[in-house]
Amino acid sequence: MRERTTSYDFRDPRGAYEALARELTALLAGESDRIANAANTSALIFAALPQVNWVGFYFLKDGELVVGPFQGKPACVRIALGRGVCGAAAAERRTLVVPDVHAFPGHIACDAASRSEIVIPLMASGSLLGVLDLDSPQPARFDEQDRDGLEVLAQVFLASLRGADC
Ligand code: SME
Repeated sequence: MRERTTSYDFRDPRGAYEALARELTALLAGESDRIANAANTSALIFAALPQVNWVGFYFLKDGELVVGPFQGKPACVRIALGRGVCGAAAAERRTLVVPDVHAFPGHIACDAASRSEIVIPLMASGSLLGVLDLDSPQPARFDEQDRDGLEVLAQVFLASLRGADC
């Protein structure tokens, strides 16, 4: 396993996300353990993206979301489907970009500094595996380019679980 010190220039978001996807692919290559790969995925994204205060996973277990590997302040452990941004994205099985978390009904505040959020559902063979969640202290931090880029990173993570080269 290589040490990585790459820094990404998000003035070119598309290029930065493409480089990040390549680095994540290399980082996860040859490993299919879900916890290990979720830990490294959250660490890489947290280190690479500017203006994020929480990056991590919730996994579906017995009908609710349970926190997995993450970077940031301690988080609420269990989230019911349909609750908060994570539960809504999971229930609707679509990425939610929330420019103002205070305006989102039922938002769950884990870190009082969070102002905006993006949650990407993780689908494996048509089933919900969990979600990838990012918080930012900056209002409206995430846009369509972040959504596109992070959805690709989520696919790289999911492919690693299948032991696939991605
Ligand atoms: N804010 C999320 C809860 C998870 S934390 O942000 C880590 C939500 O409303 O679902």
